[in-house]
Amino acid sequence: MRALPDTDPRSLTVQANIHCSFCNGGYLQAGVNGNIPLQVHFSWLFLPWHRWYLYFHERILGSLIGDPGFSLLYWNWDDQVYGGNEIPELFTRVNTSLYDAKRRAEVQPPTIVPLAATTLPNMSASIVTNQNLNNMYQSVVTASTASLFMGGALRAGVDLSNVTVLNNTLGGSLENGLHTAIHYYVGDPTTQLLQNMGNFGTAARDPLFYSHHSNVDRLWEVWRLNMPDGERADHTDPDFLNAEFVFYDENANMVRVKVSDVLDNQKLGVYYKKGRSDHVWINYSP
Ligand code: C2O
Repeated sequence: MRALPDTDPRSLTVQANIHCSFCNGGYLQAGVNGNIPLQVHFSWLFLPWHRWYLYFHERILGSLIGDPGFSLLYWNWDDQVYGGNEIPELFTRVNTSLYDAKRRAEVQPPTIVPLAATTLPNMSASIVTNQNLNNMYQSVVTASTASLFMGGALRAGVDLSNVTVLNNTLGGSLENGLHTAIHYYVGDPTTQLLQNMGNFGTAARDPLFYSHHSNVDRLWEVWRLNMPDGERADHTDPDFLNAEFVFYDENANMVRVKVSDVLDNQKLGVYYKKGRSDHVWINYSP
């Protein structure tokens, strides 16, 4: 993927640019008056769009190596027991394709990655771990409705171009807190825009992005199926279900997909093993 020319939609460069184009004004909303950019962050579009994005990214990688069973790995940063809370060592080996030089120096392993911007990496390990468990609990267990967890309704014609991570009121708790903290802490503060992970435009240049988002995607499923109050429900509003995006598939063809077709992981062949420490944050008592 890294070796493909930038003119190939399957190259890592174009893959990263696709992410960028869905948040920095690359597409306009269809069927509305005026030029309103499509933004896939900061609302209920966040989880389904990123699931589709991972789906095609994974299929492209599988096809490039001739292994249709290839699967992305998720970085289980929610785990505070078995070391999931460090940047996985696999991604830190210099001169490998999973390495990215633009990452924050103070959160290299074995430093625990904080799950909130207010938790600092130089706090003691037990404080960071406890605050991480608390953030997991607050953002997933107590966020019992689709609006709280997945994000609120984005209707055609609503312009989110002035929304940033700092004034984002529509985004869900998984996106706003946990997910954004990982981007913030992995990005390199000695670069101008917190590249790569800390900025929409460059985040998906770092291979860690895809494993980070695989865990975001897994936590969506944990939220839906494994909470103490029983099964939870995704949004069912037609404006949500009928939202459409375009992606490149593994043959470099452009395809149009719908949110309603990505809600059932089984249809996509995506399967998550139960996380071995999920119960620790699910049962955390603040
Ligand atoms: Cu499209 Cu983690 O952001």
